[in-house]
Amino acid sequence: RASVKKITTSSQALDGLLGGGIETRTMTELFGEFGSGKTQICHQISVNVQLPPEKGGLAGKALYIDTEGTFRTERIRAMASALGLDPKEALSNIMSIRAINTDHQIAIVEELQDLIAKDDRIKLVVVDSVTSHFRAEYSGRENLAARQQKLNRHLHQLVRLAEIYDLAVVVTNQVMARPDMFYGDPTVAVGGHTLYHVPGIRVQIKKSRGNRRIARMVDAPHLPEGEVVFSITNVGIRD
Ligand code: GTP
Ligand code: MG
Repeated sequence: RASVKKITTSSQALDGLLGGGIETRTMTELFGEFGSGKTQICHQISVNVQLPPEKGGLAGKALYIDTEGTFRTERIRAMASALGLDPKEALSNIMSIRAINTDHQIAIVEELQDLIAKDDRIKLVVVDSVTSHFRAEYSGRENLAARQQKLNRHLHQLVRLAEIYDLAVVVTNQVMARPDMFYGDPTVAVGGHTLYHVPGIRVQIKKSRGNRRIARMVDAPHLPEGEVVFSITNVGIRD
């Protein structure tokens, strides 16, 4: 595991939970309810991957697959400026692609392979959210098996990208918290499941008071379970 690299989240607490930051060669799932901060973290790491290694980045670029239309250029600019990066340049180092349905989303990831093979500065692939189109298109019990099969293939393709090209893959998954979720089985929740069947790291994000959020590591193979608090501020993710 020596060759795994990390991307800082701009929160020391969250980095600590992740064993130093978002890892390359791994798929990290951020799951949690609406407004918990999944998209904000994705924006922050898309900026932070560009930082030099001594500042917690990989001097790299990001590919941002946006399925919900929530990618915000002005938010990227604000986060970049706060870190002393040129906002225009930071934005140009993030390629955002809007995926309109599951077939489109899958096709984009299939084509990414060529893009990444040609540009070794791409060190982060975000899919925000990886599950929304699948849930919308394959709703109802009778479609569950088909949905799982198609989603599984897609997720494994993403995991392979991470492993082959030594990049970080971060996917989000909106999962409504159940009142007893923190005490019961964390992989089963109202309104959807986590991606427990795919290798990788799972982090639950939960709302707390005001701009405070709680991140919780769930069944990580090489990281201790635990919870930390971070904040969503005007300049981005912070302690
Ligand atoms: P869904 O996509 O609906 O599942 O939610 P999410 O988990 O992606 O939530 P998201 O990352 O969009 O978080 C939204 C929250 O981030 C808002 O409720 C705000 O609290 C916070 N936020 C977003 N933009 C800003 C900003 O510019 N300044 C500050 N201070 N907070 C912000
Ligand atoms: Mg979101």
